[in-house]
Amino acid sequence: MRVLGIETSCDETGVAIFEERQGLLAHAVYSQIEIHAEYGGVVPELASRDHIRKTLPLIHQVLDEADLPPDSIDGVAFTAGPGLIGALLVGSAIGRSLAWGWSVPAIGVHHMEGHLLAPLLETPAPDFPFVALLVSGGHTLLVDVIGIGRYAILGESLDDAAGEAFDKTAKILELPYPGGPALAKLAEQGDPERFRFPRPMTDRPGLDFSFSGLKTFTLNTLKTELVASNDPAQTRADIARAFEEAVVDTLVIKCRRALRETGRTRLILAGGVSANRRLRERMNRAIAAEGGETFYPRPELCTDNGAMIAFAGLQRLRAGQHEPLVFRPRARWPMGELSPA
Ligand code: KG4
Ligand code: ZN
Repeated sequence: MRVLGIETSCDETGVAIFEERQGLLAHAVYSQIEIHAEYGGVVPELASRDHIRKTLPLIHQVLDEADLPPDSIDGVAFTAGPGLIGALLVGSAIGRSLAWGWSVPAIGVHHMEGHLLAPLLETPAPDFPFVALLVSGGHTLLVDVIGIGRYAILGESLDDAAGEAFDKTAKILELPYPGGPALAKLAEQGDPERFRFPRPMTDRPGLDFSFSGLKTFTLNTLKTELVASNDPAQTRADIARAFEEAVVDTLVIKCRRALRETGRTRLILAGGVSANRRLRERMNRAIAAEGGETFYPRPELCTDNGAMIAFAGLQRLRAGQHEPLVFRPRARWPMGELSPA
């Protein structure tokens, strides 16, 4: 079975073709960074309009790359939520209509299930069950994954998502949008010994997260330290490093705790923040020390893409699930509501 995947939940248009046995045949991502950069964040209406412009050309592009005619597609998967409602409507309308026109089934995919299954696109792929840490711009979730669609939420962020904390802190440090990668780059020049930031909610039991206090802590430190500093550039880098260390450490502590509590040995990381190099290094070491294994998608499949949507859609189409002729994207969609495939 060959599935076309369409991702338009936020500021990336992602399209891919995935085949059951051959794997990923083609994928293309168009990032809207330049459009939103001058506003310092995603402008939903501009995002929707750009998805309208880019989705069909990208579908042509991946069909060409895979050297396939449209009638070789056996199913269409599109992101149906959670995300920006206008952006979701574009991908859903195009995906559902193409499937109707081609007389093939369509399936609406949960964006976070896409992220969660992305490590299964790699070799070696992790076997079920495993614990998943999903760290994106909109979500921070720890999930016990028994199988496809069999997810128990172990913990989540009570306020800002990890990616959102990176983005907001980057703004405080006057870094360009998108903040996460820019902050990570600046942190490389920082001295890890100069500041120590708090590791929120690690001193009490539980697997929930809270990152908004860390952002305020960064702002206050920056204000005080810049006044006293004769090397403001270095101070900024040191603060970026302290922030990154605090987030990474917090995520590592909670993942280790989640593995101990569930008795699982495999941990997967996915979502934009899982592209962070420091997080990968620290997590690999900590989990290996516990006798566990860590799995990630390749960096380009950590951030939003069509491949993960095609793959997640394939699992559900193969199980006989598909959408009626109506489509109903959902801006909010709790992951616990998903059914097994
Ligand atoms: O999964 P994703 O592409 O989109 C959402 O579903 O939200 O994640 C985007 C988030 C952004 O907040 C971005 O700043 C963050 O992932 N991000 C990073 C890195 N690369 C992307 N954060 C820290 N370090 C990175 N290297
Ligand atoms: Zn995402």
